[in-house]
Order: sequence, then structure tokens, then C-alpha cells
Amino acid sequence: MKFIRFSDLCAQGRAKNQRVFIRADLNVPQDDAGHITEDTRIRASVPCIQMALDAGAAVMVTSHLGRPTEGEFRPEDSLAPVAKRLGELLGREVPLVTHWVDGVTVQPGQVVLLENCRVNKGEKKNNPDLAKKLAALCDIFVHDAFGTAHRAEATTYGIAQYAPIASAGPLLAAEMDAISKALANPKRPLVAIVAGSKVSTKLTILQALSSKVDGLIVGGGIANTFMLAAGLKIGKSLAEPDLLDQAKAVIEAMKARGAAVPIPTDVVCAKTFAADAVATVKAATDVADDDLILDIGPETAAKLAEQLKAAGTIVWNGPVGVFEFDAFANGTKTLAHAIAESAAFSIAGGGDTLAAIAKYGIEKQVGYISTGGGAFLEVLEGKTLPAFEILQKRAEG
Ligand code: 3PG
Repeated sequence: MKFIRFSDLCAQGRAKNQRVFIRADLNVPQDDAGHITEDTRIRASVPCIQMALDAGAAVMVTSHLGRPTEGEFRPEDSLAPVAKRLGELLGREVPLVTHWVDGVTVQPGQVVLLENCRVNKGEKKNNPDLAKKLAALCDIFVHDAFGTAHRAEATTYGIAQYAPIASAGPLLAAEMDAISKALANPKRPLVAIVAGSKVSTKLTILQALSSKVDGLIVGGGIANTFMLAAGLKIGKSLAEPDLLDQAKAVIEAMKARGAAVPIPTDVVCAKTFAADAVATVKAATDVADDDLILDIGPETAAKLAEQLKAAGTIVWNGPVGVFEFDAFANGTKTLAHAIAESAAFSIAGGGDTLAAIAKYGIEKQVGYISTGGGAFLEVLEGKTLPAFEILQKRAEG
């Protein structure tokens, strides 16, 4: 995919004394008191900002935070806690600017954070008048917000249409490169893990991947629906019986290509959904009517681990069991360690997946950890994200 890299512009000295507008994704979780509880996205945005500062640019950064009502600013929508954390990470004060659409004062070598862009009227619907005003603020637009790359909003799409130069920041570029490596030109076998509570939320991903991957490992409620499709009983486990035909179609599509959706041969069951529920390992053929399947069994986990260790590329989205409860965490833990030990290039994304990676301490052994939630899922669905589309268009002139 062709796009202008901001790093190239900096290396060529083209950012010096230029007004650079960076769209970052600083949408971080906060507790009720407004304290940031997890700052990965802020830390991931620092290299782009530092790059712009080092290049001698006058730097403006903005992001959305949550989903505020346009034109109605509330204190909890403020990026103030983000400005503070960003300042700590950059080792300098980061002033927060409000009401910035009609003009921003910032000098080369300075950085300012522009208050929550989703409070501006017209942001969500990519109003062209707003987008043109935003574009007029800068000489160079930098999209570095992979987490928001699936949204065509004024700060993620419209500004890129009208800014003199529209480029990809280092985070967005790294995400694009990792995704291409995993999905466009994968080293085979390519194995994907798609797990989660509902087939319905990931059906398009399963369908898209079924034409690409050599192995499609399903987990959680999704695996239960696939077990039903394979003719197994699942007791009172979470499943979507109305999607059996779609699950069967995915199994058949994989079979037709000589690939497979491995169906669990053993499972871990409980009678109630609770951390202290008694966990019982059963053959997949022995699930009772009052059983809840809360994890894959050790035999299945060991087989899947072997498959992952032999893979050339691994794409991971979703834990395969209720890993928050220790008695039902073995499946996810085993697969996490197999991914860590595998020589395969691995890419992982999604909130629960990131929590599992953190729980098992395998951050350094995963090839690439995506900062995208919904954006990562849309990539797996095979969609071209609006951010990529417009940057490519602008790069082609
Ligand atoms: C996310 O948290 O996934 C991104 O910041 C996008 O947020 P949105 O779903 O509100 O657009």
C-alpha cells in the first residue's frame, strides 16, 4: 500500500518550521475520578510527537476521548488528564488548548494538545466545512491514530482530504506494516485464533478468514456454536443456535481448501458461572444438559499449542476461555505460551486479548500488539479502513 510516511518527511527536513497536525488516538480508560487506568495508547503516540518536535515542527496534537455530544463540552470529556500524562512522558509541559478550530498559536519546537475533537460540531459526520478549517490549521497532517482508523470523521478523514500534505505517523505505519505481513503476505501456515462470546459479532471475520487461513481456532461462545454445528451437545453453554448454518458454512469453506476449524475434543465445565465454581474436565462428547463450558480442555489446548508452535504466522483475537477465573484459564494460558514460544510472526489485538497477554507476561514475545479495538476487527474482516484509503489516495496525488 502506497502512502507518505511522516518519518520520511522529517528525514528530508520537510517538517522544519512547518505546522504539523497529528491525529492521535489518546482514548484511554479512566476510573470514576478521571484517573487514567491504562496508558498504552498515550505511550504509543509519543514517538510521533517526539519525531515532529525533533524535526523542528510546530506541533498540534488532538484526539477524541469517549463519545461526547457535539457542541456540549462536559468536564469529563476533557483531555486534561491526557495532557498531564503526555507531559510526563515527553518531559515537558503540554498546554491544553480549547476552542481551537479557528486558529492555534504554536511555535516551532512547541507542542500543544487540542481539546477533545469530538466536541466540535460536524466531527462525527465529517462535515466538509469543519474539515477544511482543520486542514487550514496545518502544513502537514499526520494520521497516527490506528485505533480510530476505521472512522471517517473530520479529524481522521476530511482533514486528510484537504491538508497540503497528508501522511501516516509511525504508529499507523507500523500497524499497516504488521497487518500486511500477517494477512497480505503471510508466512504459512497461517493460523488465526478468533474467540469471544458471540459468533454474531465476529461472523464476518470468521467468513473473511476462512478463505485465507490454514487453521481457524475458535474459542469461547464461538467455539460452543461450532461444537453444536459439529453435532456435539453443549448443555446450557452460551451459543447462538440460529447461526448454526453460518458456522457450518465456515467449516465447509475451510474443508474445501484443505484447511480446518479444529473442534475441541475435551472441555472444562462448571455448573455455575463463578470464579469458585467446581471445574470438571470432560470429553467433548460427555457434556451434560446442566453443564456450562467455560474453557477448552487440556488435550485440546495441547493439540492447538502444537499447531501454533508449527505456524509461520499467527493472528490472535480473543481468549479461548473465561481466563479471568483461574480454574478456566488453562486454555488461554497454554495458547498464550505457545504463541510466545512459536517462531511464527504473531499479531494480536482486542481488549480481552491484550489483558490475556498482560496476565501471562508475553508482551515481548508477541510480534506485534495492535492498539486498535474496532479497527483491528475491521482489518480482520478484510475491510480497507478509511484512513488507509484516503492516505493512499493522497499519496497517489
Ligand atoms: C477505540 O477505543 O476503539 C477507539 O478509540 C475508537 O473509539 P470509537 O469506537 O468511539 O470510535
